[in-house]
This record gives sequence, structure tokens and C-alpha cells, in this order.
Amino acid sequence: MSSWRLRYSLVPGVERSYKSSSWIFLVLAFVCFLYMSIIFVFDTIPQGSITWNTENLRKKFVLNGSLTDLVHFQVFGSRATEPAGHRIAVVMVVTNQTKPENYDIAIQTVRCYCKIHDYDFVLAVDTDFNCAHRDKFFRRHCAAAKILPLFDTILFLDADIGVVNPERRIEDYMEDGIDVTFYDRFYNWEIMAGSYIARNTQYAIDLLNEFADYEFKLPRSFHGTDNGALHIFLAEKLFPHAQIETNICKKVYNKSNSFADLFTYEACVRAIFGAGTDFGKVRIMRKGTGWARDGWLTSMLWHPDLDFMFHGWKTNQLRQTPEVAVRPNQMGRSEWYNPLAGPIYLERCSPQNKTWSYDPRLRGNKEDILNSLRKFEEEVAVQQVNSYSRMTEMMIR
Ligand SMILES: *[C@@H]1O[C@H](CO)[C@@H](O)[C@H](O)[C@H]1NC(C)=O
Ligand SMILES: *[C@@H]1O[C@H](CO)[C@@H](O)[C@H](O)[C@H]1NC(C)=O
Ligand SMILES: *[C@@H]1O[C@H](CO)[C@@H](O)[C@H](O)[C@H]1NC(C)=O
Ligand SMILES: *[C@@H]1O[C@H](CO)[C@@H](O)[C@H](O)[C@H]1NC(C)=O
Repeated sequence: MSSWRLRYSLVPGVERSYKSSSWIFLVLAFVCFLYMSIIFVFDTIPQGSITWNTENLRKKFVLNGSLTDLVHFQVFGSRATEPAGHRIAVVMVVTNQTKPENYDIAIQTVRCYCKIHDYDFVLAVDTDFNCAHRDKFFRRHCAAAKILPLFDTILFLDADIGVVNPERRIEDYMEDGIDVTFYDRFYNWEIMAGSYIARNTQYAIDLLNEFADYEFKLPRSFHGTDNGALHIFLAEKLFPHAQIETNICKKVYNKSNSFADLFTYEACVRAIFGAGTDFGKVRIMRKGTGWARDGWLTSMLWHPDLDFMFHGWKTNQLRQTPEVAVRPNQMGRSEWYNPLAGPIYLERCSPQNKTWSYDPRLRGNKEDILNSLRKFEEEVAVQQVNSYSRMTEMMIR
């Protein structure tokens, strides 16, 4: 039997003492101390099982777990036989610090997709392009502007965008007279900066370079890097006659301190754009009509009539698909389930084989998905009005 005593008090001067007759309390106290030390030192709550799960999921879904053939700038496939005007490349630009393993599932689906449709796939490292930009988010558009002249059209993708439905074609999102196509993000009123289709024209190359160079014109405020800058950049480029209105948005942009402010500035710019989609040679596709959306909007439920690509496939955020039925409602924004049932075998990807094996639990009902998205879209439209109404407060700030 031990004879140690523990004294403690929450109220100064009022001391209590406990005499323990067993070691259990001491052991418990030690375990708690250890746990708290781990949290303190590693700034993370120990999650052994989750780490293990992610690693296992990764092995399950990824061809060989190896992407070492992709870390340097390379153009894959040779399209010398393709008639001029039809060389399409899918382009991802990463930094030399990016760990491609964290995007391997997304990248494998895109590579397979490109083999199916005979598109080129480019995975580029941004330091190979002599771009002077310090912010990697702007630098990648400078790199894209230098890759574009090698092809007739490029589809630029964030590295965490994966293909869910390889039946769709990039050509379906192209139209004569439109040189650069963006799409609206779903969960707010932002134009997505992380993906666009650009044709190899001087207009498109200039647009991408000017966009990248906006880094040097940023206000010293909470500017939201390239995604924030895209809005005022496009407004100034597409509405040179609306300087009075764009100056108001610029003033508010210069005062931005937070995401709420940034979104208000974006609502200001969107008010100039209105509900249209085509602005000269630039198209901005409405919510849900572009080629990609966030999978979390519908808990990864998808339908071949509606979906093409999903955004947000970071391998370290992959979660085990639940056994219970999934509803097409919003899930955590930094989580996803894999719609595929197994790994991609790149050597089996060809124009003759568009059939991927899917997890049946994530094949949603078309009406249910549409209803859920529609409801969310209506909520976002109201939020946009509320955000715009903050303009008054921001202007006198
Ligand atoms: C994985 O890589 C090894 C050599 O690196 C190769 O022999 C093997 O065939 C690959 N497996 C698959 C499924 O491609
Ligand atoms: C990445 O690029 C930067 C800038 O060019 C360079 O300073 C750095 O050494 C590179 N890092 C690696 C790991 O290559
Ligand atoms: C931006 O805000 C700063 C103060 O934060 C101010 O000094 C500057 O004049 C503003 N610039 C413009 C263009 O309004
Ligand atoms: C077609 O490709 C998919 C994805 O790589 C693969 O799972 C499937 O086995 C292939 N089918 C055939 C018939 O090769």
C-alpha cells in the first residue's frame, strides 16, 4: 500500500488532501499528462486509427502508390497526328514543395481520363518557367500562359480536382469565339480561379499573364490571393467603361480584413457583372453548369447526367465511405469519399475502355441531387444579397 498524498486546491487557502490506497490514480494522472504533452508538443490530437485508415485507403485506390514519373515538367503522349486546332491538354501546375502523393488519386483519374480521350496531360513544376511571381497562386497562371502556346486548348486544373465521369468531353465546354472560360464556385458567389479552359490565342495568353501580374497590384489588405484578385482583374478588363463602379469595389477591396469583407468585395464586383455569362471572349459559367464542383455539397453523391469532375480530392482528407445510406446533403468541407471502387490501372485506360468501377453507395438519385443543389443555390443567393449590403458599412469604415 502506498502512502503518497496528493494535495490540491482550486480556492487559495482551502487545501484538500487525498490519501490514496492504490496506484490507479497515479497511473491515470500520468496517462493524462502524457496525452497533454503529445498535444502540446505535436499540436495535434493523437489519431492513430485515422492516419492508419487514410494510408490504407490510399493504397487501395492508387496505382502502385508511386507518382515519381510525374514530378518534373513533362508533356505526356504525342499528338503529332492530331489535326491542328484539336490538341487539347489538361494542365496541372504544382510547386517544387508539393507532395504529389497527396493528390495522387485525383491525378490518376485525370491521367486515365486523358488516355481515354487522347488528350495530353501536363504536370508542371512552376519553378521551371522563369516566372518572377512570389505567390505560388499567381505563379501558376504565369506557367499556364507559357504552356498554352504548345497546344490549341488547355484545361487548367487545381491538383485536387479529379474526374468522376470520364464520358464527358472537354470540347463540350468550348465554343467558337470564347477564348477563356471560367465557372462559378457553388458555395459562394466567387468565380473559381483554380480551373479554366483557355484557347491558344493572343487574347487568352495576355489575359493569363495580366492575371498573374495582378500580384504586383494587390492592395495591402486581406486580398485572398489569386481568387480574390481575379474579380477586380476581370471587372477592369471586361468593363473598362465602368471605372466609377470598379473604383468603388477597389476601395472596399483595399479595406478588406477578413473573409466576410473579401466576399463583400466580390459581391460588389458580381453586381457589375450581373446575371450574364458571356463577356466578349470570356465566359463565366453559372453554378452547377461548369465542368467541376465540390463533392462535399452532396456528400460525394453524383450522377452521370450531372457530374464530370469533383474538386477537393486531397488524399490526406479521404474518409472511409459510411456503410449507412448517404444523403445528398452537405458534408464537412475538408472530407471526401472515393466514388471509385478500386485503383486506376493506367495501362488499361484507352478509348475503348471508359468503364470505371464505382462504389454503388455514392451513385445518387438525379432528382435528389438536383433538389439538394437547388436549395443550396437559393441559400447562397440570399447570402450574396446580405453580403452586398455590408458595402455601406465598409465604405465609411
Ligand atoms: C508496381 O511497380 C513495380 C515496379 O516498380 C512493377 O513491377 C509492378 O508491375 C507495378 N504494379 C502495378 C499494379 O502497376
Ligand atoms: C524550390 O524552388 C526554390 C525557388 O526556385 C528554390 O530556392 C528551392 O531550393 C527549391 N526547392 C527544392 C526542394 O528544389
Ligand atoms: C488603401 O488603404 C490604405 C490604408 O490602409 C491607404 O493608405 C491607401 O491610400 C488606400 N489606397 C487606395 C487606392 O484607396
Ligand atoms: C477499364 O479501366 C478500368 C479503370 O482503370 C479498369 O478498372 C477496368 O478493369 C478496365 N476494363 C478492361 C476491360 O480493361
